[in-house]
This record gives sequence, C-alpha cells and structure tokens, in this order.
Amino acid sequence: MDKRPALPRVIGHRGAMSYAPENTLAGFREAARRGVTWIEFDTRLSADGVAVIIHDARLERTTSGRGPVAGTCFGKIAGLDAGAWFAPEFAGERVPRLDEAVRLAGELGLGVNIELKPNRQHQRELASAVLEVLAEGWPRHLPPALLSSFDRKVLAALRKLGSPWPSGLLVKSLPRNWHRQVAVFGCSCVNAAHDRLSRADAQAVKSRGFVLGAYTLDDPARARELFGWGVDAVFSNAPDVVMAGLNGI
Ligand code: G3P
Ligand code: MG
Repeated sequence: MDKRPALPRVIGHRGAMSYAPENTLAGFREAARRGVTWIEFDTRLSADGVAVIIHDARLERTTSGRGPVAGTCFGKIAGLDAGAWFAPEFAGERVPRLDEAVRLAGELGLGVNIELKPNRQHQRELASAVLEVLAEGWPRHLPPALLSSFDRKVLAALRKLGSPWPSGLLVKSLPRNWHRQVAVFGCSCVNAAHDRLSRADAQAVKSRGFVLGAYTLDDPARARELFGWGVDAVFSNAPDVVMAGLNGI
C-alpha cells in the first residue's frame, strides 16, 4: 500500500453544504472562510464528456435545469443556476467544471477529496477525464488529491490507467471482503458511513494500516467517539461546528 492521503480531522462535505449550495465555488469559498482545510465534492460527466461538480445523476434538485446530467451537454449545464434553490443570495452560482474547482482549491489552499460518480458503463471515461484534468491543472502546492468512489469499476479503471493519486474505497457498511477489495484496487483509504461503522470495523481497518474516513456527521460528540475508535477523518456539512467541538483532539 502506498500513496496514503494526508487527511485532516474534519473535511467539508460538498464544500460546506449547511451554509452554501453544495458542490459550488461559493460553497468551497464558504468552507475556506470557516477554517476548513479539506473539502469533498462529487464529479460526474456531462453528455459531451466534461467533468462537472454535481452530486445527483439528475439536474432537478440542485439546479434550474431538468434531466440527467449524462444526457445534457456542458454548454447547457453551464447556463443553469446552481445556487438559487439554496437561498436567493446564491442566485447566479453555476455548476463548476472540475478544472475550475481544482483551480479555486489551489487559490484557497484547500485539500480535495474528489468523489467520482459514474453513469452506468462510463466508469473508464470518468476516471480518464478526472486524471486528465488533474494532470493538466493540479496546484502543486496542495497535498495530493484523494480520489474515491463507491463504484468498483471506477476504482479498477483508476488503477489500470496508472493513477498517481491516493484512492479511497467508499462503502456504506464495511464489507466482509473489504481487505481484498482495497488490495485489488490499490486503495490506501476506506471511507464508510459513520452510522454503520462499528468500533470493531474501525479497529480492523486501522490495524491493517489504512486511512479511515467516516461520513457524514455534524455532531462533535460523535466525531470524538469516532476518533477514539481510530477514525482519521470525518466528513461534515457543518465542519466548523465539528472542529469547534473537538477541543484540539
Ligand atoms: O464521500 C463521502 C460522501 O460524500 C459519500 O456520499 O452521497 O454524499 O456523495 P454522498
Ligand atoms: Mg460525495
């Protein structure tokens, strides 16, 4: 195992989605303003193969558009509003491209966990597009990005394409064969749903030397408990609240 990500205790989930529209540049700025040092965001491909920052497979929930992201060309996505749904003061926010998100992270000094969300059968295309953007525009002063996915074919594609980036296996519950999976995909990190993670799971992952993340929580007491189990990092929608409640641990 190599390429371990240098995660902080608290990572801003989709930016800082309690305070600003998720997966937008405004959200990333808000996370930095609140003292966050790493953010997580989601990326998927538009119909014409542009890596864009959006969580859902469809446009409706977080933009003014309709239809599947994978069925919409970037030219159309670029004209959508991705902020007004959250609050009027964010009207005019756009769906960022991955290269724009990475450039801003560099300007803000934010470490980045990029979660790759493929459409069916486009795992290799997504992995390839992400690697290409990072190869061209990664801000070298940042720690290496962590690339993570629930999709095993994406993780396999990253490995096959020779990704130089740390990779993370995303799971809800820790599968019984997690250790075989991380070995096959060359992952150095496991990120699991905090409410399905047990102390024994955490100890199993940590005792084998893997980095362990837990998503998504806003309660500092729960974060302290997880850190006591050996969890390295938690993902939070209100990362400043969690950080403030850690008392320096
Ligand atoms: O990467 C942690 C978390 O973001 C995974 O779930 O659905 O919020 O992307 P989701
Ligand atoms: Mg995510």
